[in-house]
Amino acid sequence: MGEPGPSVGPPFGLLAELTHRCPLRCAYCSNPLQLVPASNELDTDQWRSVLDQARRLGVLQVHLSGGEPMARRDLPALVEHAHSLGCYVNLVTSGLSLTDGAAAELVAAGLDHVQLSIQDADTRGADAIAGARAHERKLAAAAVVRRLGLPLTVNVVLHRGNLDHVEAIVDLAERMGADRLELANTQFYGWALRNRAALLPTAAQLRAADVVVRDAVERLAGRMEISYVYSDYHERRPKPCMHGWGSRQLTVAPNGDVLPCPAASVIEGLDLENVRTRPLAEIWYESASFNAFRGTDWMREPCRSCAFREVDLGGCRCQAFLLTGDAANTDPVCQLSPHRAVVDRVLAEDVLLVPPPSVPRRMPVSRNGDAL
Ligand code: SF4
Ligand code: FES
Repeated sequence: MGEPGPSVGPPFGLLAELTHRCPLRCAYCSNPLQLVPASNELDTDQWRSVLDQARRLGVLQVHLSGGEPMARRDLPALVEHAHSLGCYVNLVTSGLSLTDGAAAELVAAGLDHVQLSIQDADTRGADAIAGARAHERKLAAAAVVRRLGLPLTVNVVLHRGNLDHVEAIVDLAERMGADRLELANTQFYGWALRNRAALLPTAAQLRAADVVVRDAVERLAGRMEISYVYSDYHERRPKPCMHGWGSRQLTVAPNGDVLPCPAASVIEGLDLENVRTRPLAEIWYESASFNAFRGTDWMREPCRSCAFREVDLGGCRCQAFLLTGDAANTDPVCQLSPHRAVVDRVLAEDVLLVPPPSVPRRMPVSRNGDAL
C-alpha cells in the first residue's frame, strides 16, 4: 500500500458530490448512512479549486451530483468554472428544481448534459419509492431539457417493486425524449443495503426483464441507447467495479473527502484524504487509499491466479468489505469466492420472503422542513 504503480494514468472523470441534501427519500439510496451536513460542505472557492486541480490532473468529464446538486445556490458558478476549464459538464439531478429559468441559466453557464432520475413508469409507484411528489415534476424537467436542446440520459434504479414495469419504463423514457436510458439494478451499498430484503428482485423477475431489455435494445438501436446494469447477487462472476480501483475516476464528497469510488467511505481502515489538506494530484498518485487496490498485486487467491483477474479485477472492494468484513477478499458474488455462501444465503432468504416495506431514506431537516 502507498506506492503508486508504474501504470497509473490520469483520471478521466470527476464525480463532484456537491451536497448530500436531497428532496427525495429513495429507499435504494446508495449514499452513506452518515450524510455530510450542509455546514460541512466545501464552499464555492474550494470547489473551484477542486475543479482546477482535477483539470490539471487530466479530468475531462465533470459529473455534478449529490444528493441534489441543485440545492447548491452556486451551481451555475461551478458549471461555468468547469466549462471554462474545457470540461464536459454533466448534471446528475432529480429534476425537481429544473425549471425553464434554472435550466436556461445552467445552459448559459456551459452545461453539456443532463442525467435525470425517474423511479417508475407511473406517478403513484414512482412517488412511493421517491418518498415525495416528484414524478410529474421530473417529466416537466425532461421537457425543459429537450426544449433547450441538451442531450438527456434517463436513469432508473430497478428493484423488486418496479422491475416488472421495465417495458413501461422504456416506453416512458422514449416519450420523455431520452437519448440514453440507464436501467440499473440496485447495488447494495449505503441505505440500499438496509432495504435489501425489500429491494432484491427474484430470478424470475430478472429473466423476464432481460427479454424485455434485449428486445428494446434492438428495437431502439440508433434512436435511444440503453445500458443495463445487472443485479450482481444473481450473477456468478462479479462486476469490474469502477473499471478498477483508482483507475479512471475519482469522487470528491461534499466535505472534500476524496474517494476511489463513491461508496469507499464504508471500508473501515481506509485512510481517506481530504482536498482541504492535500493536493488532488498527490492524493490520486500517492495516497494509501488510492493505491490500496490498484492493479492486481493486492489480490489474494482465488483471484491472484485466476484467468479473469484482469477482466473483472476481483469485483467490488466495497461489496467484499460489506459482505465479508475484508475489502481485500474476492467479491463474494464470484462463484470461486470462499464466501459465495453469504450471497447464496441472502438470495435464499430474502428472495423467498414476502418483501417487507422498504424504509425511506431519512434526511436531516431544519425546523422549516428544508433538508439540512
Ligand atoms: Fe474474478 Fe477473482 Fe472470481 Fe477470478 S476469482 S472470476 S478474478 S473475482
Ligand atoms: Fe466501491 Fe465497488 S462500490 S469498489
